[in-house]
Amino acid sequence: MRETVLTPNDFILPLFVSEKIAHRRNIASMPGVEQISPNEVAAEAARAAAAGLQAVLLFGIPNEKDEQASSAYAEDGVVQKAVRAIKTETPELLVITDVCLCEYMSHGHCGVVRQDGDHFHVLNDESVELLAKTAVSHAAAGADLVAPSDMMDGRIGAIREALDAAGYEQTGIMSYAAKFASAFYGPFREAAESPPQFGDRRTYQMDPANAAEALREVALDVAEGADIILVKPASSYLDVLWRVKERFGLTTAVYHVSGEYAMVKAAAEKGWLDERAAVLEIMTGLKRAGADLIITYWARELAEWIRR
Ligand code: PBG
Repeated sequence: MRETVLTPNDFILPLFVSEKIAHRRNIASMPGVEQISPNEVAAEAARAAAAGLQAVLLFGIPNEKDEQASSAYAEDGVVQKAVRAIKTETPELLVITDVCLCEYMSHGHCGVVRQDGDHFHVLNDESVELLAKTAVSHAAAGADLVAPSDMMDGRIGAIREALDAAGYEQTGIMSYAAKFASAFYGPFREAAESPPQFGDRRTYQMDPANAAEALREVALDVAEGADIILVKPASSYLDVLWRVKERFGLTTAVYHVSGEYAMVKAAAEKGWLDERAAVLEIMTGLKRAGADLIITYWARELAEWIRR
């Protein structure tokens, strides 16, 4: 009678690869999640595959940041090297790469910034150019899918065109189509070392109050060539997820984000929640609401719990 059944194939595990460390390191605000070094990433990915997962999502923390995010599209950048290492050891594992500039920009914004006195602007089209370069460099390293998380306008079309022109027409795009400016990204910014040094992300991420606008944003990305569309965060946006799935009928992903993870972890540590039961209920709810794919920091545990 059960309508919604979780399988390990539903989950995508994010991995934070840092060039600045030699050994894995805890992230204080995300108990159980670690930054790993470039030397450890292939084994970590193999471990995910052994647990039954089909896909990982890579985030990079570079040694050098600058105002052009040069390390984001460097051939020997942290993500590019990590993709090659994973594909050598576990070629069957699907590798998705986060395409964004915030971890690589000295100011921590997701695009190129121009500052005029007290004001700053994120320059959309200049940013899109760098994002397209980044996506091509990930594809060249062997990424199966690129996942732009920046929310600039027109980047899906630009990335599709750049990938095709470079001969990577087989590389797919998972678009963060409806990404809201959320309080729940706090712990991630510690994990990815990417908090904005000034201002906030509300000029390019969406207003949590707007669902109709979210559907317009998704429609644009679909028209520009997105293969998978993603809603983010998850639990506070189930209505958006449902409407996106119903309206577009495309493979739809949802990102259960760092703050959503941290809340359950903190409550479980205090003995106020049963972690496993709560997590299985949340994930079932996300799938029931239309998610075909769920990005979650519990992906490996979930695969193990489900198989048992
Ligand atoms: C930006 C990016 C963010 C997350 C994924 N990609 C943070 C942000 O927009 O500030 C958040 C993920 C999470 O909170 O788990 N490149």
